[in-house]
Amino acid sequence: MRSAGIRGVMYNDKVLEHFKNPHNVGTIENPDGFAEVGSSECGDTMKMYLRVKDGRIEDIKYQTYGCCAAIASSSVATDMVKGKSIDEADAITKTAIVEELGGLPEKKIHCSLMVEDAIHAAIADYRSKHKK
Ligand code: FES
Repeated sequence: MRSAGIRGVMYNDKVLEHFKNPHNVGTIENPDGFAEVGSSECGDTMKMYLRVKDGRIEDIKYQTYGCCAAIASSSVATDMVKGKSIDEADAITKTAIVEELGGLPEKKIHCSLMVEDAIHAAIADYRSKHKK
């Protein structure tokens, strides 16, 4: 797999493709679940919005104020959980996100953790608002 550098960090083609053409960017009005989280490592932040229907993630959008790895992780992770049940989506890990991207440089793993945290927090928000 080819790779290219952004600000001195080498990324593979899949990461660069998601960075250049990120999927699911945006907001959802009156979301069923919402979270804003930050990375304690770098101070970057992101917002995650969920639309849930019949226990499944019907739509998911985000705004990421972060680096190439954070944007690529947001893009691929939201693709991974879209259409999944809440429990399946809540099982997502940074390891699965990084694997789906074909790898990230070691010093950029924390960027995928921010995305994992945002999905878990948005689901927790959904659950807290929709307790039976
Ligand atoms: Fe902050 Fe990647 S360096 S999210």
